Amino acid sequence: MSTQLPLQISSFETYQSTYERSVRDPEAFWAEQAATFSWHEKWNRVLDWNFTDPDVKWFQGGKLNITENCLDRHLDTRGDQTAILYEPNDPEAPVVRLSYRQLHAEVCKVGNALRELGVGKGDRICFYMPMVPELAISVLACARIGAIHSVVFAGFSAQALADRVNDSDCKMIICSDYNNRGNKTIPVKEVVDEALALGCPSVETVLVHRNTGEPITWDASYDQWYHECVDEQSTECPAEVMDAEDVLFILYTSGSTGKPKGVVHTCGGYMVYTAFSFLNVFQYNPGDVYWCTADIGWITGHSYILYGPLLCGATTMMFEGVPTYPDAARFWQVCAKHRVNQFYTAPTAIRALMARGNEYVEGHDLSDLKVIGSVGEPINEEAWEWYHEKVGKGKVPIVDTWWQTETGGIMISGLGGHSPQKATFAGYPLPGIQMALVSKNTGEELTENPESGLLCVKFPWPSMLRTTWGDHERCRNTYFSTVPGMYFTGDGARRDANGMYRIVGRVDDVINVSGHRMGTAEVENAIDEHPLVVETAVVGYPHEIKGQGIYAYVILAPGNHDPEKLRNEIVETVRTEIGPIAKPDKIQFVEELPKTRSGKIMRRILRKVAAGETDNLGDTSTLLNPEAVDAVIEGKV
Ligand code: WTA
Repeated sequence: MSTQLPLQISSFETYQSTYERSVRDPEAFWAEQAATFSWHEKWNRVLDWNFTDPDVKWFQGGKLNITENCLDRHLDTRGDQTAILYEPNDPEAPVVRLSYRQLHAEVCKVGNALRELGVGKGDRICFYMPMVPELAISVLACARIGAIHSVVFAGFSAQALADRVNDSDCKMIICSDYNNRGNKTIPVKEVVDEALALGCPSVETVLVHRNTGEPITWDASYDQWYHECVDEQSTECPAEVMDAEDVLFILYTSGSTGKPKGVVHTCGGYMVYTAFSFLNVFQYNPGDVYWCTADIGWITGHSYILYGPLLCGATTMMFEGVPTYPDAARFWQVCAKHRVNQFYTAPTAIRALMARGNEYVEGHDLSDLKVIGSVGEPINEEAWEWYHEKVGKGKVPIVDTWWQTETGGIMISGLGGHSPQKATFAGYPLPGIQMALVSKNTGEELTENPESGLLCVKFPWPSMLRTTWGDHERCRNTYFSTVPGMYFTGDGARRDANGMYRIVGRVDDVINVSGHRMGTAEVENAIDEHPLVVETAVVGYPHEIKGQGIYAYVILAPGNHDPEKLRNEIVETVRTEIGPIAKPDKIQFVEELPKTRSGKIMRRILRKVAAGETDNLGDTSTLLNPEAVDAVIEGKV
């Protein structure tokens, strides 16, 4: 088995020449990277594509299993090295270290258990679990037997879980009994029971991992204990041989319209790109301890807690807890405790910790840090400077990594310390990534610098989404129809005179709350579920900690209402429909919403009002009801 790793770039000059080569001959470049992995059969075509259907295939005919590349091929060279380092929520609880050999054995046991429970290639398994090692193990086990994982963040509501389970007809849900989060214990199995009560006809089995051991309700017709199914299994489990273009996983994400869509990633290209990008962005070297604070329920956890690091034979840390428990020093204590070399977190966490005061970060030995990263939303200058000074001590390079669930891996970022660095700029695209700015007005590509426009990608890259589950037209329409011939990201960006990119933010109706993507339509639909709500418009507004907060304008049915009581009820409705992450921060009751003559809500104006920028409302001449604007301004909360 191959023990090689993809190319690791070690200077800006090498980056430039590699980039140039990767664009001149993308197929040769990616074939070279792919050749470093273990394949059962080599591909016969590197790339086939068009962005019209769209139809993108990488490494066709290639046969592989990603878990053999994550686990088996490391056994001879680093079998005893820690693969997963687990830091529990409780700082006093024992750390768990799983070596590559142990992780391999555990994954095999679960793989055998899943097969015994009747799961096979192509079946979907939904995961609804906290950040415990068993999540990583069973996700990998799912991939080992060729089943498709769909991990749902364990903060989503029963309704949101049921929607996702049903969209992809999952055969099994793997969950925990409870989740430890700070000083709280959160029921997890109970939410699964509620989801099933809402109706999930495809689910045959719920596999329950015992995490806290507190009592749960049990239905013997579908519930099974994880340990009872797994403990006696063999530690060898032959990997299912997958086609490069077989589906590896589905991950649901919010868009500007309708319900969340299942972004589909496939085995071969995703493997090659997550490993390549991990190695280069974080400049990981053997023996380093790498920590990404994301949850595996999001793409960052998939690509840069699990797959990218394990493919490269790294030691990757999993953290069960939250940044502020037992206090706001936890991240820095953990960095010092495990001598973390690469640390990767989100601007919202940085801002929250910054607001608690410098005393929490000072006095912790952060001298092992070599690269610190940011992901999920634009990082504002103040947070960037604080991260740089207080965490990076003014010398550790920051990688501001721009990417998306759909891109599978990091697209624009510095490469450790080898790239020029500028606060709030993500920087240059990675090798093989052909970004473009497109004019909003003309639809033409903007080739000069500096320039701003719609952020697009002109050429396929190995880890790009292939479709949206069960609805290919939606994929085409969302990503490939705005700018014909290109993948449209939904973001707006600026390129400076030197060609470095700065991401400005979403240009569609998606808001980014604490690094979580939320469709305004989704939140509106949830609020509309309240029986007294007639109409709703939701917009994002600048929020000091969360980046964006959720501002809801709500029209109520006629009658005398207690506004405080209704606000609480509406928040509760959103919790039930989506989950606490989608709770509106501000709710304003209005008589009417400003609308155009064609009946469309003028969100541009509502955004301005929510942001407090009422002296500059722009063109209001197309409004049907200009008087609604004054009323909205007057009632601002
Ligand atoms: C935003 C998270 C600015 C962006 C990996 C994108 C960012 C959306 C950055 C994707 C960044 C992500 N700078 N904005 N470094 N990283 N975004 O799918 O708007 O959860 O479209 O993927 O987050 O969010 P998603």
